[in-house]
Amino acid sequence: MRSACLLLHLFFAALALSCDKDSLKTDLPSSPAEDSYVWKLPSGFPKPKVPADNPMNTAKVELGRRLFYDRRLSGNGTYSCGSCHEQKRAFTDGRGVALGSTGEVHPRGSMSLANVGYAAALTWANPLVTTLEKQALTPMFGEAPVELGLAGKEEELLERLRREPLYQKLFPEAFPEVGGTINLDTITKAIAAFERTLISGNSPYDRYLAGDQGAMSESALRGKELFFSERLECFHCHGGFLLADSVTHDGKVMDEVMFHNTGLYNIDGQGGYPAPNRGVLEISNRPEDMGRFKAPTLRNIAVTGPYMHDGSIATLSEVIDHYAAGGRTIATGPYAGDGSKNPYKSEFVTGFLLTPQEKLDLIAFLESLTDTDFLVDPDFSDPWLSAP
Ligand code: HEC
Ligand code: HEC
Repeated sequence: MRSACLLLHLFFAALALSCDKDSLKTDLPSSPAEDSYVWKLPSGFPKPKVPADNPMNTAKVELGRRLFYDRRLSGNGTYSCGSCHEQKRAFTDGRGVALGSTGEVHPRGSMSLANVGYAAALTWANPLVTTLEKQALTPMFGEAPVELGLAGKEEELLERLRREPLYQKLFPEAFPEVGGTINLDTITKAIAAFERTLISGNSPYDRYLAGDQGAMSESALRGKELFFSERLECFHCHGGFLLADSVTHDGKVMDEVMFHNTGLYNIDGQGGYPAPNRGVLEISNRPEDMGRFKAPTLRNIAVTGPYMHDGSIATLSEVIDHYAAGGRTIATGPYAGDGSKNPYKSEFVTGFLLTPQEKLDLIAFLESLTDTDFLVDPDFSDPWLSAP
């Protein structure tokens, strides 16, 4: 099998080479720049899916990184993508719910961008957003809520970026096929290319899987058994190499996109979640989609709290309490209700009993999913902070 793949690779490499020679004959290449990017994939990680009209190249990734951290991408010049997606927190922001550039409160929390290039659906509960190129437009131009606050300021944004000498060099290198045009298409394509490089797979858990028996503590190893047990059921929704649901990669033909109700709320006794956070129902209007959210990756989970779509659980210990109870009960206030009786709740959230030691073990396992190299990898840091 492996040698057949190798042969295929060689075949395509030869094809790519011959294409390269052809494109040298013309002055301006008519197709997007060659996929010259070399992936640094951890063991067990497939290649991310890359849209045919946005092939990877090194200049594009560098440009995308600049744009991701560029505060000129906000209406008032105070914010960049990196303001809500901080590397040291696996690209989250430490807040329960995000805060936009003009002070508007987002109803949901910033999500980790670690391994986001593998997500088959983006954001907490929107089956319609499936590409990073398209997703980037929401924080830029969205008005409900305002994040970067660029609505109505598209021309101003392009003017600002066109004046930057670095961009006058990087856009043509990244997008030779359109002569380096600076527009929303090339901006979002570059940001998406950078996001696809945010690959995190060097946690103690990964090192253990790769054969380093001492990489995880005894406690974390017991926690791993619990996590993957039919008693706790965690792995049904947080499975695979990302410990997440709705994952795709290069060569995968059918994407399975799934959303689940974990019994976090039941505000009316009929399964209600508080608006505008009623999950996929906000998009589909179908009652059965009430409270259904994406099961996010648990990689780096120890550094991305507070937890859940609305940051309503502060610690991993309390997240485990929620699942152990088969759903969260809120005793008083406007959101009072017994989530374990939510009629839309997934059949995998039924509750379980853990000894205090078992709970510590499960937490130790979740903590073994932190990839500390990723949190400080210079390739992903803010390039504007150091001289170009
Ligand atoms: C105001 C804070 C804020 C800013 C600024 C921001 N984001 Fe986000 N980001 C969020 C929030 C909140 C979510 C979850 C959105 C939702 O579910 O509706 C999110 C979700 C995402 C996701 C989906 C991740 C996943 O796993 O599904 C991506 C990708 C993303 N943001 C990229 C970006 C990019 C690129 C920029 C800059 C162009 C950006 N964000 C700017 C707060 C922010
Ligand atoms: C039925 C599918 C399902 C099962 C089973 C499940 N989860 Fe989840 N998990 C989700 C979904 C969906 C969310 C997001 C829910 C929300 O925000 O409303 C989530 C959120 C989380 C979060 C917070 C993630 C973040 O970024 O805020 C943690 C931690 C977590 N789950 C751990 C576990 C553990 C540990 C188990 C086993 C005891 C488990 N999950 C079982 C679907 C599931």
